[in-house]
Amino acid sequence: MDAISLLKQDHATLRKLFKRHEALKHGGDVRKKQEISRRIILELSIHAAIEEQVFYPSVKAHDPRWIERIDESLEEHRVAKWELAAIQRMSPEDPRFDARFTVLVRNVLHHIEEEENGLFARIHQTFTQEELDAMADALALAKRAVPTHPHPMLPDEPPGNLVMPLVAVIDRGRDLVTELVERGMEWARQLAQVGRGRAEQVGEEARKWTLEAPGRGLKVTSDMLEEARDMARDATQSARRMAEQAANDATPWRGNGERRGHGASTHRAKTSHPPRQRGSMSRQTSAPAGKTAHKRATSDKGNSAGKSAPRA
Ligand SMILES: [Fe+2]
Repeated sequence: MDAISLLKQDHATLRKLFKRHEALKHGGDVRKKQEISRRIILELSIHAAIEEQVFYPSVKAHDPRWIERIDESLEEHRVAKWELAAIQRMSPEDPRFDARFTVLVRNVLHHIEEEENGLFARIHQTFTQEELDAMADALALAKRAVPTHPHPMLPDEPPGNLVMPLVAVIDRGRDLVTELVERGMEWARQLAQVGRGRAEQVGEEARKWTLEAPGRGLKVTSDMLEEARDMARDATQSARRMAEQAANDATPWRGNGERRGHGASTHRAKTSHPPRQRGSMSRQTSAPAGKTAHKRATSDKGNSAGKSAPRA
């Protein structure tokens, strides 16, 4: 693969991502939109950086006829980076998010077409095939050491852009922290799911008990129905508290990079077991269950003495 094929491959990736983003515009899935937006920011930042560090300086040095065109490309990159930086700070739920993205995509597609139809199409006037092959290696290597986020205020040409490898280290460290935080949130979501499942289970048991009671010779009184409803409500509330606590425990990083919580919390997050602690299902449901049993016993005495109430 030579340098032009590599850069065109990047362009093809961007076009595909733009199409995926387009399909999510106007009320699409927010999480998917966020995911694709981040991917676009990453791919576009890396692509722009390798062109600026390797491709454009080489073309300028080999053939001064392209200097004006390369300067235009650098300006187009600069505008795109400002747009990307703004988008990076926006939520996909922001009412102007889609509009901002549309403008970015339109500008980038224009830039890509000009590059492919102009410079790329006539590159063999400037470089031999061997030189383009060697440049592909340099571009591929640069991909591993360029920033992953837009930096519109930093220099885009040598020697100023020699600071970019340092910026790349910072960017990649930031990406890692973001990924860790999001993994923590994924654990929290799983734990919340467990909590919801348990609440539904208890609610279903209460409902079943209420329905089966007449068949067992028990008269369902309004008190009993009310208690069953109370029990389901208490279980739901305690499950919600437990999920909130789990989310708190499972998010391992604060915004300032400090570790949140301690060993026990981390262990719970890793093992994905819901914590048995204050506010857990077992303790929260025991009180209403005891109250229910007491009232039920009282009710049974009055309605069908001698028959035991089913366990809720
Ligand atoms: Fe470009």
